[in-house]
Amino acid sequence: MALQFFSSDFMTIDIGFRYIKIIQLRKKKNNDLMVVNYGIGDTPRGCIKNGAIKDKVRVVTEIKRVIDEHSLSAKEAKIVISGTNIITRIIMVEKVEDKDVDKKVWSEIHNFLPINFDEHRVDYKLLDVVNEGGQEKMRVFVTAVAKNIINSYIEIIKELKLKPVSVDIPANSISKFFQKDIEFKETDILAKRQKFPRQSTNTVAVIDLGSETTIVNILKNKIPEFNRVILQGSSNIDQVIIDEILIEKNQADKAERYKKMYGMVAYRDPNNDLEWQCSECVKKVINEIAKNIKMCFNFYVDRCGGEQISKIFLVGGGSKLKGIREYFEEAFGVPTYPINYVDVRGIEFAPELNIEKINYLINAIGIAL
Ligand SMILES: Nc1ncnc2c1ncn2[C@@H]1O[C@H](COP(=O)(O)OP(=O)(O)OP(=O)(O)O)[C@@H](O)[C@H]1O
Ligand SMILES: [Mg+2]
Repeated sequence: MALQFFSSDFMTIDIGFRYIKIIQLRKKKNNDLMVVNYGIGDTPRGCIKNGAIKDKVRVVTEIKRVIDEHSLSAKEAKIVISGTNIITRIIMVEKVEDKDVDKKVWSEIHNFLPINFDEHRVDYKLLDVVNEGGQEKMRVFVTAVAKNIINSYIEIIKELKLKPVSVDIPANSISKFFQKDIEFKETDILAKRQKFPRQSTNTVAVIDLGSETTIVNILKNKIPEFNRVILQGSSNIDQVIIDEILIEKNQADKAERYKKMYGMVAYRDPNNDLEWQCSECVKKVINEIAKNIKMCFNFYVDRCGGEQISKIFLVGGGSKLKGIREYFEEAFGVPTYPINYVDVRGIEFAPELNIEKINYLINAIGIAL
């Protein structure tokens, strides 16, 4: 008789506009998380619309292919939804006695959020209590997602014959991931200390450079304070390369390849015109995205009473772009760490796995936590 081992493995799924990330994970006794295996598939084009999965059949087919290819065997799944149609707000609510908090918060949410409450799933999290004009106020982080969007993801999990454990939003997965202790490489610490002598605040930005979206998260003392989705991403670069260099039709794959190969360079190599041309296309888009990120930072500081950002972490496939780190450090004047440049305590990869792809996996790892 074959021995049956108890398996505590589960799967997490992140369906991005460009890639589908699927991870099999195991929680260890000390609460550390082990990535047992993972696979990355291609998202069939045009299947996410307004944050919901519209073409379920093609998505399910691709997920099944990846599950088979990587022999992922867990039976339970957590899924993260697209960031594009999620409402997130911080509201201030007068401090009341503990037993009345829930009722008070819900009544404020009903007053404040201009949505149909039957059609949305609304959640809140108490952040902290602050003093505003001599009055104690609770800061409350509120999220709302249309139920039909959530259902489209649950249906995907059911179609896969998996048991849905949770459906979460990217802001939560990022904040859970960044609860973990980040360790910087020794050489980095010294170099950054010289370049950026003053780093006074505990406010960091985590920027998810996706294919069609860039999500700006700001965390203060590891608590999420700000979240905004910019509807521009790395695929905009491909489009500019097509428009300005490739001209002919159906060149999307080639444009993406050029982007990955050349990235952003600081100097023009007289023997490599193509590199420079591509790099100029990349800069055009990244400048635009950086401008929007800056607007978010300014909004956070000026309108939300936030502190200056002292560090930036970059996640998502777009954070693998060559030259991105130097660009951000120059543009924002703060140390910037693409996530593959740091170690994260409490998360380990099975020894045979390629951890080079960790940039893509942060959302899928975060919802596992
Ligand atoms: N080495 C690289 N250099 C530049 N860009 C890269 C590199 N590797 C991947 N990318 C880009 O990263 C993007 C995919 O990243 P990711 O998987 O995080 O996006 P997504 O989650 O599918 O999109 P979204 O978050 O917008 O839904 C693609 O546009 C891809 O071209
Ligand atoms: Mg993504």
